[in-house]
Amino acid sequence: MARVVRFHEFGGPEVLRIENVDLPALGRGEIRLRVKALGLNRAETLLRMGRYIETPLLPSGLGLEAAGFVETVGEGVDDFAPGDIVSVIPPVSMVRWPAYGEVATFPARLLVKHPPSLGWVEAAALWMQYLTAYGALIDIAGLHKNDFVVITAASSSVGLAAIQIANMVGATPIAVTRTSSKARALLDHGAGYVIASQEENLERRLEEITQTKGVRVVLDAVGGHIFEPLTAAMCEGGILIEYGGLSNEPTPFPLFNVLSKRLTLRGYLVHEVINDQDRLDTAKSFILAGLASGGLQPVIARTFAFDDIIEAHHFLQSNQQFGKIVVTL
Ligand SMILES: NC(=O)c1ccc[n+]([C@@H]2O[C@H](COP(=O)([O-])OP(=O)(O)OC[C@H]3O[C@@H](n4cnc5c(N)ncnc54)[C@H](OP(=O)(O)O)[C@@H]3O)[C@@H](O)[C@H]2O)c1
Repeated sequence: MARVVRFHEFGGPEVLRIENVDLPALGRGEIRLRVKALGLNRAETLLRMGRYIETPLLPSGLGLEAAGFVETVGEGVDDFAPGDIVSVIPPVSMVRWPAYGEVATFPARLLVKHPPSLGWVEAAALWMQYLTAYGALIDIAGLHKNDFVVITAASSSVGLAAIQIANMVGATPIAVTRTSSKARALLDHGAGYVIASQEENLERRLEEITQTKGVRVVLDAVGGHIFEPLTAAMCEGGILIEYGGLSNEPTPFPLFNVLSKRLTLRGYLVHEVINDQDRLDTAKSFILAGLASGGLQPVIARTFAFDDIIEAHHFLQSNQQFGKIVVTL
């Protein structure tokens, strides 16, 4: 038996319950983890509301990121042993391998022996944000020195990871946040420029910042009406990578900007990198090197106790956070 978080109906944070459940037998290639910390993600609120790309049968568990000790290893697992300290790359299905529990099961392929200098909280806040940002900016867009990159929802965990990665390769990150309340913190955390999209003219500010050069890469988690000003400020041959959908507005297709500048608008899920072992290995090497050099440092918004999971989800949905929310056990 183990205490895990589950929900029996779709809805707000209140549907989350901590329950004692029997864990299924370990499958081949799986390990059981004694969880010490969990990283929270927007995706978990979407699953809980029944609005995620994956639709669960109820009751369902949830959760994509954890760090802890290996407790038991299944058949065919050679690289890990009980007692190993590891963090987990998000599985493709959080319904099949839910992380929110005192004990959780994961495919051994997704475990990483992270640098021992990291505490549990930071270790649980690595792989979703850095793999998502790395996959989009480096693997797909080939971001390099002298590029301007626009990062929307910049105070999100993925947004802050993208700012750090852009700085690692010498590009200039332009952070877009809704209001100016998080502007100072974004500059302090590496943004070259900050634009408050509800207070300033986004297109004009991007033109002022990038002058005649334009923006080559946009990493967008929002969608909606900002597609017009974002694409208007892009340079010929630029790429906009869409990886979220935080805005509930319809998203216009900016036909003339796309046509006249041969823009690429591309959808992206981090699973694209996680499911490809060569690309995943390259991404892991980059991220581990960044953690070792100090170029990458997870920003923690706030921590909560496991028993306060409902409060943690309320905070996640409040959009007050700056960086990653972590639950400790
Ligand atoms: N495609 C993938 O594989 C993938 C992987 C990971 C995450 N994601 C997506 O990436 C996004 C960020 O994830 P996260 O877990 O890092 O998020 P998070 O930390 O919960 O980010 C929240 C931030 O997003 C901004 N925001 C929220 N609602 C918004 C709205 N309606 N319009 C504009 N901005 C809004 C706010 O920033 P300001 O206060 O600064 O405006 C807020 O602080 C989510 O959409 C998530 O689903 C996608």
